[in-house]
Amino acid sequence: MATYLSGIQPSGLQHLGNYFGAIRQHLSLQEQEGEHYYFIADFHALTTVQDPEKLREYVRETAITYLALGLDPEKAVLWRQSDVPEVQEIAWLLSTVTGMGLLERAHSFKDKVAKGVKPHVGLFTYPLLMAADILAYDATHVPVGKDQVQHVEMTQTMAGYFNNTFADVFVRPECLLPKMGAAQKVPGLDGQKMSKSYANTVWIFEEGKKLKKRLGKIVTDSRPPEEPKNPADLFLFDLLALFLPETDLQEWKEKVEAGGTDAPGYGHLKIAIFEAMEAYFAPARARRLELLADIAEVDRILAKGADRARERASVVRDRAYAACGLR
Ligand code: ADP
Ligand code: TRP
Repeated sequence: MATYLSGIQPSGLQHLGNYFGAIRQHLSLQEQEGEHYYFIADFHALTTVQDPEKLREYVRETAITYLALGLDPEKAVLWRQSDVPEVQEIAWLLSTVTGMGLLERAHSFKDKVAKGVKPHVGLFTYPLLMAADILAYDATHVPVGKDQVQHVEMTQTMAGYFNNTFADVFVRPECLLPKMGAAQKVPGLDGQKMSKSYANTVWIFEEGKKLKKRLGKIVTDSRPPEEPKNPADLFLFDLLALFLPETDLQEWKEKVEAGGTDAPGYGHLKIAIFEAMEAYFAPARARRLELLADIAEVDRILAKGADRARERASVVRDRAYAACGLR
């Protein structure tokens, strides 16, 4: 039977890029046959978030985000990474069979250092912990974005090293990339990829005046509404496309392309995104408020998830310990 597993870093509030690039896929997978495991990668987030209050807030918000958007704890296990110490034990075992060279080739390490993140040992060994996250649960499918593919490939390599050195302990996982078509890369307010690192994000649960103000920051040019424009040149449309049905989107595009007195200006398009986004996330917002008012319920879900996750990870840990002579 397939076991789907993925981790979500609570390194900030989840934004539209996270939703359309990852969360939505996770949630739709839970309807498929198989087992479903999703965890909040708080140990990983500690490589960048080193403010305890912020980390607590982001962990709580990440759990609430998944639950509000539809994660069903009956179908999918949700827990906090740090509640399963077996993963750390497995990470150590992997570190003893993994060459430095493998980690030195990680793009994400090089990219983060280039962006100015302090290159501490935890950032360097990040892929080891991620491999342990995956292998600890015998995951067969790992739904991730393109940026994480290399880490999953490294996991396959590490599983191979361990199995060859000792015995067939770890299951080789496969990557599962989102089938998203146009939304592979959600643009941020500045037109670059939306990312917490670029301060160009739109939080999924932003609403009302604040959301309007935030969307008002979408970068545009100074051409007047009457001037005909090619919609393909306007990343505003990539944002609108996330929310609108194809026929409505087409109508907007035709008007912009035609120009003239009937053509909408950039302000109009921003309002259209605002209204579509408000409607799209309205049910999830209501659910989020309910969960915020009952944090004890969220804690119960996470605690139950952690018990189930530990049960599974401890079996794999025991198998690995036995294989290398620790028992
Ligand atoms: P960030 O860049 O904001 O730190 P993460 O690297 O934590 O985001 O990404 C978490 C998940 O969300 C990954 O699977 C990633 O592929 C996806 N994701 C993040 N930003 C985008 C985006 N702008 N478009 C599509 N997917 C995204
Ligand atoms: N590194 C992943 C990210 O930044 C998060 C993550 C941690 C993860 N452990 C994982 C994803 C295990 C999949 C499987 O998005």
